[in-house]
Amino acid sequence: MSFVKSLRCIDCGRQYSPQDSISICTQCSEKGLGFGLLDPVYDYDKIGEKLNKDTLEGRKLSLWKYKEFMPISDESKIVSLQEGGTPLIKSENLSREIGIKNLYMKNETVNPTFSFKDRAFTVIISRALEQGANIVAAVSDGNAGSSAAAYSAKAGIKCYVFTPSFAVGSKITQMTMYGAKVFSVKGSLIDAGMLVIEACEKYGWFNITTAKVINPYQTEGHKTLAYEICEQLGWKSPDWIITPAASGDSLGAIWKGFKEFHALGFIKNLPRMAGVQGQGAAPLVKAFEEDKQFFEVEQFEPETIADALRIGMVLGSWPLNTLKESNGHAVAVSDEEILEAQGLLAAKEGIFVEPSSATTIAGLKRLLDQGAIDKDETVACVLTGSGLKVPEVAMEMCTELIQIEPSLSELEKVL
Ligand SMILES: Cc1ncc(COP(=O)(O)O)c(C=O)c1O
Ligand SMILES: [Zn+2]
Repeated sequence: MSFVKSLRCIDCGRQYSPQDSISICTQCSEKGLGFGLLDPVYDYDKIGEKLNKDTLEGRKLSLWKYKEFMPISDESKIVSLQEGGTPLIKSENLSREIGIKNLYMKNETVNPTFSFKDRAFTVIISRALEQGANIVAAVSDGNAGSSAAAYSAKAGIKCYVFTPSFAVGSKITQMTMYGAKVFSVKGSLIDAGMLVIEACEKYGWFNITTAKVINPYQTEGHKTLAYEICEQLGWKSPDWIITPAASGDSLGAIWKGFKEFHALGFIKNLPRMAGVQGQGAAPLVKAFEEDKQFFEVEQFEPETIADALRIGMVLGSWPLNTLKESNGHAVAVSDEEILEAQGLLAAKEGIFVEPSSATTIAGLKRLLDQGAIDKDETVACVLTGSGLKVPEVAMEMCTELIQIEPSLSELEKVL
């Protein structure tokens, strides 16, 4: 049984029944792309009657232990690869290096397809099955496509992934290995996304793109990051959550998760949310800094080494609302800062992340420098994807290969 009560338009507040097969507010969507995003609202009284902290503590750490907060009615349709339940690691070395007392890292690289997108897709594919889908399609520059492909493989359904021209080969390989048919579109992420919408309309495929603008339920899996962090910190929220932001959908989802636990009385405090983007692909940062609405930022061609964050527009008010409501921050970091942070995380903490995820550490350094975050505050960075997802970038940093003959005397010469 699902506890979803309604779908609420985040722009005008209008409520729709979850039974309406609707993905966007009919009133607001007329204003243009990004308007009228819908958010599932649950019956929190009923959830509160069924659950408390003890019940949750009694369940094994995993995404589906929070099933009451998920939009699934038929549990037999759940497609899981054992996602979630990832470690929250306290930094000892990196925190000392950058001068902060309590730094935690949520290591999402250990998810089944090595990124946090598995949280979204276990829910999305389970819902698609509930609705009888047998062919699904998504636009993705890599991680979402890999996750979509893996969960479709497990579910036994056909998956088409449309990638923009900048998508990296290693990620395309991963989705192909899971059996997806990949179409490399000669254009941007938005161009590829528009093609998916048209193709789904024409061929009746189920659009599983992880964009709230297409699928109101796609952010629900990401909420569990907040739940897990609260539990792992002994039912407390950190002072700050720092997460990489492309669409900013996951930023908003994590915030929603904290608000839900707060409303149910599971935690007493709420975090401030910080979103990090790459310089050259920072529309959200622009809107935040210039106090603009999402539609006032003109679309542009994005460029950053953080390939998963290449976005040239803000798709709706969801991430901006999050930054405002949580009294948060948005910050942009350069390619050099990203690569430095990636190296530091690997060499100081033994966690190898992709450049997009390293933005969180680069962003933290900036926010400490700017005085936006205090060194005594508790910070949790979400490390969203593995470094092996984009080996090309790391390989360029590790060019010096010491070749020797197999003898100790030869080794001694180079030691
Ligand atoms: C590794 C990684 N981190 C962060 C993000 C940003 O997520 P969002 O679009 O929810 O802001 C993505 C999106 O693809 C990603 O793949
Ligand atoms: Zn509306």
